Amino acid sequence: MRIKFRKLFFNSFISLAVLITVSAVIYSQPRTTELFTKEWYFKPGDVKDGQNPSLDNSQWRLLDLPHDWSIEGFAQSESKKEDAHEFHVVNGDWKFREGDSLLWKSSDFNDASWQTLKLPSTWEKHSNYTQDNVYGWYRRELTVPAELKGEDIIINLGKIDDADETYFNGVKVGGLGSFPPNYTTAWDYLRYYKIPRELINYGAGNSIAVRVFDGIMGGGIYDEGEKIIEGPFESTSPGGSGAGYINAGIGWYRKEFKLSNDLKDKRVFIEFDGVYMNSDVWINGVHLGSRPYGYSGFQYELTQHLKFGNEKNVIAVKVDVQQPCSRWYSGAGIYRNVRLIVTDPVHIAHWGTYVTTPEVSENEATVRVETKIHNQSISGQQVTLETVVVDESGHEIVKYNSMQKMEINSVNIFEQFVKVPKPKLWSVENPTLYHVESKVLVNANIVDSYKTPFGIRTFEFTTDKGFFLNGKHVDIKGVCMHHDLGSLGAAVNKRAIERQLEIMKNMGCNAIRTSHNPPAPEMLDLCDRMGFLVMDEAFDEWIRSKTRYGYGQFFEEWGERDLADMIRRDRNHPSIIMWSIGNEIPEQDNANAYEMAKRLADMCRMEDPTRPVTSGCNSPEAAVKTGFSKALNVLGINYSMSYYQTLKEKTKLVASETASAVSTRGEYNLVQDGETLKIEKELNNQCTSYDVASPSWGNTAESTLKTVKSAPWIAGEFVWTGFDYIGEPTPFSWPSVSSYFGIVDLCGFPKDRYYLYQSQWTDKPLVHILPHWNWKGYEGQEIPVWCYSNCESVELFFQPEADQPLTENWKSLGEKKFSNTEDLHLVWNVPYSPGKLKAVAKMNGKIVSTDIVQTAGDPAKIILTPDRTEISADGIDLSFVKVEIVDDEGRICPNADNLLKFNIKGQGSIAGVGNGNPISHEYFKAEERKAFHGLALVIIQSSGNTGEINLTATSDGLKKSEVIIKTKN
Ligand code: GAL
Repeated sequence: MRIKFRKLFFNSFISLAVLITVSAVIYSQPRTTELFTKEWYFKPGDVKDGQNPSLDNSQWRLLDLPHDWSIEGFAQSESKKEDAHEFHVVNGDWKFREGDSLLWKSSDFNDASWQTLKLPSTWEKHSNYTQDNVYGWYRRELTVPAELKGEDIIINLGKIDDADETYFNGVKVGGLGSFPPNYTTAWDYLRYYKIPRELINYGAGNSIAVRVFDGIMGGGIYDEGEKIIEGPFESTSPGGSGAGYINAGIGWYRKEFKLSNDLKDKRVFIEFDGVYMNSDVWINGVHLGSRPYGYSGFQYELTQHLKFGNEKNVIAVKVDVQQPCSRWYSGAGIYRNVRLIVTDPVHIAHWGTYVTTPEVSENEATVRVETKIHNQSISGQQVTLETVVVDESGHEIVKYNSMQKMEINSVNIFEQFVKVPKPKLWSVENPTLYHVESKVLVNANIVDSYKTPFGIRTFEFTTDKGFFLNGKHVDIKGVCMHHDLGSLGAAVNKRAIERQLEIMKNMGCNAIRTSHNPPAPEMLDLCDRMGFLVMDEAFDEWIRSKTRYGYGQFFEEWGERDLADMIRRDRNHPSIIMWSIGNEIPEQDNANAYEMAKRLADMCRMEDPTRPVTSGCNSPEAAVKTGFSKALNVLGINYSMSYYQTLKEKTKLVASETASAVSTRGEYNLVQDGETLKIEKELNNQCTSYDVASPSWGNTAESTLKTVKSAPWIAGEFVWTGFDYIGEPTPFSWPSVSSYFGIVDLCGFPKDRYYLYQSQWTDKPLVHILPHWNWKGYEGQEIPVWCYSNCESVELFFQPEADQPLTENWKSLGEKKFSNTEDLHLVWNVPYSPGKLKAVAKMNGKIVSTDIVQTAGDPAKIILTPDRTEISADGIDLSFVKVEIVDDEGRICPNADNLLKFNIKGQGSIAGVGNGNPISHEYFKAEERKAFHGLALVIIQSSGNTGEINLTATSDGLKKSEVIIKTKN
């Protein structure tokens, strides 16, 4: 076992809690909605009676939400529940035979005739047993020493490809993955099974029998599963590669607060935007509810359990993340925002407004406003709802009043239609937002006031021409995104999402798929404001789980509720153009697929008849055959590009997931192949950045772009993925911990593919050269030089280093035209010598864009460039500081990996560091980071005070750099 310890990074552990009193001073308005995120106490691991109000939590860690504990890397030590003796049983003598019989599990079965072998090894290797979809059994003996008598033990069975069932003395003690007919693989997970004492023969032999099923390739007990802990990563994490080898486990949060006496007549609610996962919430020891799905928002009323005046209230939240539960990094904790909402007894219900625009013309839009009002007062009430439509600049446009008599403790729905003359339409280019202000009046007093942003637009999917927004054809140029924010983990931060969207927008992207779960509300607010179309997705699985502790276990009980809640929360967002009932739902090939899909799709249409329902189908053939697709309004095709033709004009289509091209920023994998160089797709756990690699189900970015373009009846595509994310490091596993699919890396730094999309998705002339031009040791070898451009032609020039900087003496390596190729890139093979390459792009014979790459010298200095030099002093806002390593002429050093140390002073702290290297095991929460291909990222967060933040970066042998960021109110 290798363990690397980190230095203590968090100095905020011990600090004094300030018990805030929420009083009527802040709550003098009819409704107040305040972030309730400051000063929570947190403890990883389970806590007995953690909900008990009198429990002393003063030794817990004090922090602000949103919070994701798993990214910090404490989980591995603190979540380790078992202290039982562990037996590593992979090494040793085993018996093996092909085939399958449950008789082979018993302890007294005679396996003398079986093959004897040593593990770990795959069965192709030890037994020439090569078929896919086959069974095999392993057996061995384990002597448990007499001195352990009375104790449970753990057997560590290493990693098994694909699924196992494990028996100890004939009794099943564990198993991962599942056998046919519902086959799922668990090839990458460590088998770590607890054996209860009553099964064990102490001081004697015990039999271990392992039934293994191999779906495809490999098979057997193939890896010892050595536990390596580096940074927040653990090679044997139960979360496996999907979770990026980051552990989760159980954690508790508590917050104490006081309420002033004048709030006694109010109604008080707590709203969570999402707690990952399996949350339980208590107020003053009273259980308010549980919520398994970590992506659902929910609210509890606290009123009847509250104390006022000098007495304190305690909210306690237990979070339980049993892994593996996700195919990607989920995070763990109260990772989204929390609000405390105080209303009058008569008030608008949770998610109580629903604004649609049933009729839209140039002259006028009809706005339908449905408002749900709750009368929680002690008598019936005459309630007036005043609805005001307000435009972007704050002008009231129309006002409408309705009155209803409301019974005591009733919920009434008000339906109002208001007309907006000459509406400004919401579009990708001009995302105009209006809002509805809803005022509730009782006895001429305003008792509630609530704002709902909305947009006025029409849209339509067609079978033959794709997608139309406001009557105008729009190609969906979308990306799929997971919810983690790179170095920040899953903890939501609006600026971090905004930056992601800015980077995507700059590439020409106009649509986001919230794969594969309801997003943070901030994401949707930003999409509304920045002009992105959204495919809002509910699930990655229904009943058939994709991971052992996945959502499948909750679907029957919670599926409809989670889906309806997503729609009720999200349906006012103009950006959303589709509801997705799921991604690659395994049931798409079930006999009852149609019924299952229809139930959910109908539910969406009931909650919101204004949007089509889709689902990302990885098996369009099955989806059509079973009728799954018939339940949808728009069929989402994941990969399977031949179905664009097969289903042409038969139904409305969107390429809901495409490409899955894999690459690493800055890696080219050029290796000697005889006399020439070849591009190795995968090398040392890195994928080449030439667009040539994708998994078997995927395609290169370029071939996908071309195919989508040739199928104009498709509404467009959602590329897998915009950003790299933690987890799912396909095509590798450990030591790889984050994905290779992103068009930009985990820090948001563009890979070369970014410029391919930009060249196809934007009109602004551009040209981009790859690779870099630092190829020491490759002198004279022909390097494939690619250019992406949206211009007609590109001419490549070279200037040898010897001529620099004296001349501008460029040698032309030839001009190439896109009209002469089917490709979306141009190629030159250029013999390497140090110097400069320049690409000159022309339109109509005129130079419109150039790009240069040049050989850099040794790393000499650091350059810090913040994305913003002034941020809000709210303790939330961020500045993303790009760290570059350059030579003494200021040229970026594309191979530099120097260790950088960061020192921060003043009104801010480091929220995270990163470098985009999928095999880096460094901490994300740290004050140092190695550069990766010349770059690193430091994310600075403001404190709550105005002033200056001073960030210094140093590195041995390099000239340091310093930057100042201001924090303002
Ligand atoms: C898809 C799946 C995604 C991701 C991707 C990787 O099939 O929907 O979640 O796993 O493959 O290529």
